Amino acid sequence: MKEYRDHYFLKAKRERYPARSVYKLKELDARFHLLRPGQHVLDLGAAPGSWSLAAAEKAGANGLILACDIRDTVTIFPPQVIFMREDVFNRSSEFEAKLATCAPFDLVLSDMAPNTTGSRCTDQARSLALTLEALHVSCLYLKQGGAFVVKIFMGPDMQELLAPMRKAFGQVRSFKPKSSRAESKETFYVGIGFRGMKTVTPVVADTAVSVLDSATDASLKT
Ligand SMILES: C[S@@+](CC[C@H](N)C(=O)[O-])C[C@H]1O[C@@H](n2cnc3c(N)ncnc32)[C@H](O)[C@@H]1O
Repeated sequence: MKEYRDHYFLKAKRERYPARSVYKLKELDARFHLLRPGQHVLDLGAAPGSWSLAAAEKAGANGLILACDIRDTVTIFPPQVIFMREDVFNRSSEFEAKLATCAPFDLVLSDMAPNTTGSRCTDQARSLALTLEALHVSCLYLKQGGAFVVKIFMGPDMQELLAPMRKAFGQVRSFKPKSSRAESKETFYVGIGFRGMKTVTPVVADTAVSVLDSATDASLKT
C-alpha cells in the first residue's frame, strides 16, 4: 500500500488524474517540449488515461488524441480524445482505419508495459516486444520531423530498440523521470526528428513477433 500513496499518487488524486504516471509525461514534456496546441498525438497503452488527459490539455480543442489500450477505462475524456480498446499487436481494421484518418501524428507516446511475472528476463523481453511494435506503428503513422516517446524495462537487449530508433530519428535521448520510482527498471527513450522512413525494424520485428505472442497472451489473462 505504502508505495502507491507517495507524493505523486496524492498529487494525482488532488489534480484529478487517474494515475500518478501523468507526472512522467509532464517531466518528459518539460525536458523535451513535446506537446503543443493543435497536435495529433497517438497514445499507446493509454489506460487508465492520465497521459491522454495531459496531452489533451496541451493539444487543446483543436488537437486530437487517439488513445488505445488492451484494457478498458472508465475515465471521462474531453471530446478531442478518442479511446479505443485495442491490442497493439493485433490491431483491428477499425483501429487501422482510425489511425489512417488521424495520421500523420506529431507525436507517438508509448507507456505500454506488460503484466509483470516476477521473472526479470521475461518482463524485459515482453517490454522490448511492446517497444518494437510501438516503434513500428510510429514509423507508419508519424509525420516527418515528429517525435516518439517509449517506455522500456531496461535489460541486456536494449540495442534491439536503440539501433532502429537511431536509424529512424535524428536524435535519441534517454530520460528517467524523478516521478518514476527509483526501484523501477523502467526508463524512457525519446526520438526527435523522425526521418520519415516507413520501415526500420524488418529483422527485429520478426524476432518481436515470437515474443509478442506470449506477451499478448499474458496481458489477456489478467
Ligand atoms: C503504465 S500503464 C499506462 C498508464 C497510462 N500512460 C496513464 O497515464 O494512464 C501501461 C498500459 O499498457 C497497456 N498494455 C500492455 N500491453 C498492451 C498491448 N499489447 N496493447 C495495448 N496496450 C497494452 C496496459 O494494459 C496498461 O494499461
